[in-house]
Amino acid sequence: MALDHKIRTIGVLTSGGDAPGMNAAIRAVVRTAISKGLNVQGIRRGYHGLLREEIISLTARDVSDTIQRGGTILQTARCHSMRSVEGQRKAAGILKKYGIEGLVVIGGDGSFAGAQTLSNLGINTIGIPGTIDLDIACTEFTIGFDTAVNTAMQAIDKVRDTSTSHERCSIIEVMGRDAGYLALWCGIANGAERIIMPEEHGYDEDAIVEDIKANRERGKKHYIIINAEGVGDSMNMAKRIEERTGMETRATILGHMQRGGSPTCKDRVYASIMGVKAVELLCEGKTNRVVGYRHGEYIDFDIDEALDMKKEIPEDQIKAAEILAL
Ligand code: F6P
Repeated sequence: MALDHKIRTIGVLTSGGDAPGMNAAIRAVVRTAISKGLNVQGIRRGYHGLLREEIISLTARDVSDTIQRGGTILQTARCHSMRSVEGQRKAAGILKKYGIEGLVVIGGDGSFAGAQTLSNLGINTIGIPGTIDLDIACTEFTIGFDTAVNTAMQAIDKVRDTSTSHERCSIIEVMGRDAGYLALWCGIANGAERIIMPEEHGYDEDAIVEDIKANRERGKKHYIIINAEGVGDSMNMAKRIEERTGMETRATILGHMQRGGSPTCKDRVYASIMGVKAVELLCEGKTNRVVGYRHGEYIDFDIDEALDMKKEIPEDQIKAAEILAL
């Protein structure tokens, strides 16, 4: 359902887990909208805040000095009420009450599902992929992944130093929910001996134990395992490995530190361009679209199509990681 007149007021919200670079996207949405003569309303705390009418006017100055800041200036939340028809209708009603005809939703797949229902209820919606997990199928880039993977990489380098000094095995658990991208990238970037990812549906602990023993015989001073949170169980894994190999083993769960910090250049720039594109799409009367980046280009997809897409970790990247761990 498209609007039959030029859009006058748009809203912007961040939803789900925060991701560094979300502020660059908000800033781009606000400034692009203002440059086109639109009013912009910021919705605080995602859909949760929308249902509570936490809506504030945003000016170009309100987003000054934010591009370099981690987190999201609009705050974010996970909202169960948006899964119910009642919640969705209420949200659409509130947006209409505030004259918000177009909405930019910065978040992950769950947030786009909310945008999809709002679009069906007559609000033009555009999604921007924001998650450190990189688990949105229609795009090769999601806001926050680049910063998070660099943060995790630097932390793992530090664990590696102490692991080498003590000649230990270190299991380092990275975030990613059900996706192994953070684990794979850190595994390659940190030169890990093993990467364990949920996409592989299980791992061979016997093989790891044998590999640790063989590595020790070859004189290797540490054994780094990057474990994805989707596999988890790092503490127990450490106990078992220590018992079976005799090599002291420690588990480190990096946790939420991976979501914080000043965004990298890539996250700032891509997020900014996606923010501009989202507003342009709204001005063209488009709805139910999600902005993405594929094969060197910024593109947009129908949200229904985007949510149906599947994304696998390329087999050759997993192979490359295995070869390099020799
Ligand atoms: O989706 C981003 C993410 O950080 C995941 O990697 C992780 O599983 C989840 O969010 C943690 O969510 P919360 O902050 O709600 O505990």
